[in-house]
Amino acid sequence: MVDAVGKVTVSDLGAMKRRGERITMVTAYDYPMAQLVDRSGIDVILVGDSLGMVVLGYKNPLPVTVDDVVHHCRAVVRGAERPLIVADLPFMSYHASVEDAIRNSGRIIQEGGADTVKLEGGRDVTGKVRALVEVGIPVMGHIGLMPQRASAGGKFKAQGRDAEGAASIVADAIALEEAGAYAVVLEFVAAEVTGMITERLSIPTIGIGSGPDCDGQVLILHDILGVYEEGPPFAKRYADLRASILAALEGYRDEVSGGAFPSEEHTLHMDPKEREKLEALLKGRG
Ligand code: KIV
Repeated sequence: MVDAVGKVTVSDLGAMKRRGERITMVTAYDYPMAQLVDRSGIDVILVGDSLGMVVLGYKNPLPVTVDDVVHHCRAVVRGAERPLIVADLPFMSYHASVEDAIRNSGRIIQEGGADTVKLEGGRDVTGKVRALVEVGIPVMGHIGLMPQRASAGGKFKAQGRDAEGAASIVADAIALEEAGAYAVVLEFVAAEVTGMITERLSIPTIGIGSGPDCDGQVLILHDILGVYEEGPPFAKRYADLRASILAALEGYRDEVSGGAFPSEEHTLHMDPKEREKLEALLKGRG
């Protein structure tokens, strides 16, 4: 955690790596959760395109649009003051051209209020990373398992378990740093490879399902809170919100059906004199 009161910045993350302090990052998509993440002292909020699956009910992140990200980002920004706010560039918002990458990142920063953007890809996206950094938009990379591409292949698979695949991920990480990315997410990458990348890069690595040898960790908020019945095998549940929410809703349903809610405590009354006046008024009207 950054000591300074006040907003976490991109350079704070680099300084944390140099000091050997772990960076904490979690997704959030709305105002109340952003407030709680802020209160918890977590350093970075990711408005991830996982919002497609986690909040909007899609099967994968592909339908998520720049408008969706801007909309959710604005809610998060209203709820969180201290954490650095990173927002995902969704599918097809940067793939076709550098111009698309700049225009859509600009919208996410200007309209959404994000501090930085994140995009998926390694050596294939360094031109776009460079262009964004040149216009002053800080970029977080994302390699290993890339959900925007994994969906096309149909399977969410572990990455970097063979030497060739691992070497390719290492090359991607180095290329992103050289292109000016300030940090890189490593998703579902073999721990050995993650360790090698973390050692070689001077920018922070943020792992998800990639073992302990990263400079920081990120998880999807709903996995941490246990909102869904199942999560990915690498995510740890720190709460069982599903059970708590269900118990609360069933309690409400039962009390309304049985007439126990609202009780006196939750009921508003008229001043007795005003009530008498009202009764007289209504009588007068026949
Ligand atoms: O969209 C997202 O939530 C992400 C995390 C899995 C890192 O990219």
